[in-house]
Amino acid sequence: MIYLDHAATTPVRAEVRAEMEGPLGAIFGNPSSTHAAGREARSLVDLARDRLAEVLHCRVREVVFTGGGSEADNLALRGPLSRLRGEGGHLVVSRVEHEAVLETARDLTREGFELTELEVDSRGWVDPECLARVLRPETRLVSVMLANNEVGTLEPVRELVRVVREGSDALFHTDATQALGKVPLDVQELGVDLLTISAHKVGGPKGAGALFVRHGVPLDPVITGGGQERNRRSGTENVPGIVGLGLAALLAEREREAEAERQRQLAAQLTELILELVPDARPTGASGAGRLPNFCTLAIPGAEGELLLMRLDRAGVCASAGSACASGSQAPSHVLLAMGLEPELAAAHLRLTLGRTTTSVDVEEAAQIVGREVAQLRATTPA
Ligand SMILES: Cc1ncc(COP(=O)(O)O)c(C=O)c1O
Repeated sequence: MIYLDHAATTPVRAEVRAEMEGPLGAIFGNPSSTHAAGREARSLVDLARDRLAEVLHCRVREVVFTGGGSEADNLALRGPLSRLRGEGGHLVVSRVEHEAVLETARDLTREGFELTELEVDSRGWVDPECLARVLRPETRLVSVMLANNEVGTLEPVRELVRVVREGSDALFHTDATQALGKVPLDVQELGVDLLTISAHKVGGPKGAGALFVRHGVPLDPVITGGGQERNRRSGTENVPGIVGLGLAALLAEREREAEAERQRQLAAQLTELILELVPDARPTGASGAGRLPNFCTLAIPGAEGELLLMRLDRAGVCASAGSACASGSQAPSHVLLAMGLEPELAAAHLRLTLGRTTTSVDVEEAAQIVGREVAQLRATTPA
């Protein structure tokens, strides 16, 4: 099997699995218990928090553990806004956000908030000037992702934050789920108030994530209960998941520069090889430094996405059309449509995403298989 769907999820790293064995076994205490077993578990949670603070360049108390990226996105949007429910206000997100942001923002309109969805250009890029034009005195929150999960485009978050600071008092959230381990995630440099990460995109377990919440940002919990995580996320901590997240994020950050360069070269090679075999395939998203290093995305005329994915799957290549949630559904991706791709091309999209375990042999073989399967699919599909 050639696994080229690392944007959907990644295999759990051996080092991470090994470290998770402690809290899955002998270190079983509840971190809120004050006895020895509880303190032992607490020390693991503390270590993971230290590690994330190091990766994100923030204070330890600014890290809130969640049950994954989607929950962190929900907390980032609902947390600051729920306390303003009666007053309403204005919210801005980009058209190309992951559903965890986009659907949450749309849901908030039912609670009286007004929503502006920012247009993007053909690369999926949000123009800071567009943001400047839609800001209002009552804008409460702006959420634009750091890196897009369907085409890998990097958004100009620093610039966008600057625009927000100049034009409003709004908070700025960025979903950095795909960016962790690929681009620097220094929250001081970025200037954001809230930032989402998820463990399973970087060799950690599924169901574990975190939200950076800048000191002083008012935030109500979405999950109420025992008041864990300084009253920002109740529930007994998922200690194995938190341990896995802390180590996976730290390792991903330590290896970031070397891995990003290696994967960038492999992704470029993959794109080139496929274009040799399928010359009319059209690369989507931004190019070069404007995108994540591990993404190869193409619209392939006449190769319906779901059919191609099935063929690739049979031939041993795990790939995706857009995001894992979008593929499997027949609706064309909201991201590709927002980028202005014609619906037929949006339905003929292939996303190949590389990871730590991807080799040049994988890339060469996968390109051959893609070329062959596209040719066969085209031969069997009436024009
Ligand atoms: C950009 C982005 N945001 C949020 C998520 C959701 O993260 P999780 O799967 O941890 O809920 C994903 C992953 O699917 C993603 O790619």
